[in-house]
Amino acid sequence: MSEWQQAWTAETGVRTAQELFRRAFGAEPDGVWASPGRVNLIGEHTDYNGGLCLPIALPHRTYVAASARSDGRVRMTTDIGTEPVWEGTLAELAPRKVSGWVAYCGGPAWALTGAGVAVPGFDLAVASCVPLGAGLSSSAAVECAVGLALAQLAGHRLDAGDADRARLAALCVRAENEVAGAPTGGMDQAASLRAQAGHALLLDCRDGSVEQVRFDLDAAGLALLVIDTRASHSLADGQYGARRAACERGAARLGVTTLREVTDLNAALAALDDDEVRRRVRHVVTEIGRVTDFVAASEAGDWATAGRLMDASHDSLRDDYEVSCVELDVVVAAARGAGALGARMTGGGFGGSAIALVRPEKMETVAHAVRVAASVRGLPTPEIHLAIPSDPGACLIEP
Ligand code: GLA
Repeated sequence: MSEWQQAWTAETGVRTAQELFRRAFGAEPDGVWASPGRVNLIGEHTDYNGGLCLPIALPHRTYVAASARSDGRVRMTTDIGTEPVWEGTLAELAPRKVSGWVAYCGGPAWALTGAGVAVPGFDLAVASCVPLGAGLSSSAAVECAVGLALAQLAGHRLDAGDADRARLAALCVRAENEVAGAPTGGMDQAASLRAQAGHALLLDCRDGSVEQVRFDLDAAGLALLVIDTRASHSLADGQYGARRAACERGAARLGVTTLREVTDLNAALAALDDDEVRRRVRHVVTEIGRVTDFVAASEAGDWATAGRLMDASHDSLRDDYEVSCVELDVVVAAARGAGALGARMTGGGFGGSAIALVRPEKMETVAHAVRVAASVRGLPTPEIHLAIPSDPGACLIEP
């Protein structure tokens, strides 16, 4: 029997964050907030090109216990960093002044303040069961949970409706881009704050609009495995930025603002003289088409087609976009070979996780095949989670 990696229950998450807070600060927190990681079903490296993507929120969440302070000072602790407690001021939580986990935890304070929200000083403890460096948006989960907490401590609830949630997501993207220095596109924060249980979030990055697409795995007789290869990935390194820059060069050469505006792929490819840019453009444009096709297939209950689209997405990310790696290719091939309807890398790539869409009766076979394939290649044993489209970020204990 397989051991599926479990997410914390909300009770465990709340208790863990509260205990961390008590140990660090010797007091009870005012409240506890939580926000989830995500997997993207399809639509990879499309967000910063004004394209479409289709993430779901995971049951794995980051929990933030926090209290306001009246002296403008900030103390933060986390179970994911190495320093026990960071102490400073609000003014220090700014671009080029902080780095690492402090930037991810503190960035939302800077972004909210910049948007006119009067963030007070605060004490904050962050506990998370979103696997780190696994391409499951542990960073966005931290930012969104902290953002919800600080907005509410400042007297602004930014979780009432989708418009507020979209606003907070945009602020968390700013925090990630400018304070943490990762040039990411915005899908992760949208998934963490705007996805709904039982649904995938069809996000149109041209204008930030969303549509909830029913994605009820039980009802469809399906399961979605998340295969964490344990090849750790980082988005702050140069590869992600290099892909983004190539897309921008392609768009400029084609005279469009974003690659979303490319309507005739063949003409666009013929107009590009740089082979690398041509392949990046081909990935982005075909991937946006696959999102639309995947939504249509899932709405029609045609999971064989949906699976084939996932396979095609992976192949395009591997060959044209060149963001896969041996660990991801090995588990994806093994999952397909063992009967998955479709399998692909998910998230930014260069390590991290893959997903496999399977019939429940094949779950064990696929999980076994994936582990054996990794072991034969001398790769780390993957950790396998079950993805269930879950609730977005929320306040769990009211201040
Ligand atoms: C990372 C980024 C996202 C998105 C994906 C690739 O997860 O944070 O903005 O670009 O990679 O689809």
